[in-house]
Amino acid sequence: MPILGIDYEKCNNCQICYNACTRYFRRDKEQNKMVFEDPNNLCDSCGRCIAMCKLDAIMYENIGEILTFEEVQDPSTLISYESMHKFMSAKRSIRGFKKKKVPKAVLEKVLDTMKYAPTGANIRTLRCTIISDEDKIKKLSEVVMDAIIASSNPRYSENFIKAKKRGIDTIFYNAPHVMIFHSSNPGDAMNSTIALTYGMLCAQTLGLGTCWIGLAHGVLSSNKEIREKITGIHGNVWGVIIIGYPTQIYYRVPPRPAIKTKGLDNLE
Ligand SMILES: Cc1cc2nc3c(=O)[nH]c(=O)nc-3n(C[C@H](O)[C@H](O)[C@H](O)COP(=O)(O)O)c2cc1C
Repeated sequence: MPILGIDYEKCNNCQICYNACTRYFRRDKEQNKMVFEDPNNLCDSCGRCIAMCKLDAIMYENIGEILTFEEVQDPSTLISYESMHKFMSAKRSIRGFKKKKVPKAVLEKVLDTMKYAPTGANIRTLRCTIISDEDKIKKLSEVVMDAIIASSNPRYSENFIKAKKRGIDTIFYNAPHVMIFHSSNPGDAMNSTIALTYGMLCAQTLGLGTCWIGLAHGVLSSNKEIREKITGIHGNVWGVIIIGYPTQIYYRVPPRPAIKTKGLDNLE
């Protein structure tokens, strides 16, 4: 259990830890102090207590790096809605890449952002496999294409057959890296989508382009043999993206329909 308790030298009994977490913090009336109690080791280490204690009075062990910076109290001071909106709306799927690997340090930056994505009950079971070997990506692309051709109706598979004959990679678009999220925790189906989305947005700040590859996800999640033999992944595949330096440039944001919403009419 990484939360060890409260440092009473620092604590001023403000009870914000209880506000952060009513499960494991309580006020001990007799001693007139807050106490942390988790006899069954159920605390999921979400760290809200650490983050909310102004006096840094929560004691913890081995929970990973703890960041603190001025804007953490109000992240809206870091980026305006207008900038964020432009940034998000300009996020496009990239399907053309420079023949250049992304340096390890840059991919690590993307992964470092992904780790801040929320997960159900703060369970951190997601695993990531990055394939960067050109031949391996080509092989994976071919078997994914073959699997799609074998399982789809002829009208759908026609384009894949044509592309395959012409040596065109319609799965990974000759991307330098394929990133696969996997684990054996079914809850990670949603967690991985959130983490990958964080990473894809972060990638855009680093001049990188990305694209979801649902086609590879579909084949890898349903075909154990391909998954294990070619990617070496055991367990379930929850998401696949490609990542690299883009060659495609977009000059405008395509139109998108508004999300049909109920419940706004009565609001001011
Ligand atoms: C879950 C999901 C799966 C996708 N799978 C593929 C895919 O297999 N191949 C591909 O080229 N694009 C894929 N895409 C990209 C979509 O086609 C793309 O997001 C959509 O056309 C909107 O374009 P934009 O991302 O540029 O806004 C996928 C997107 C999502 C969200």
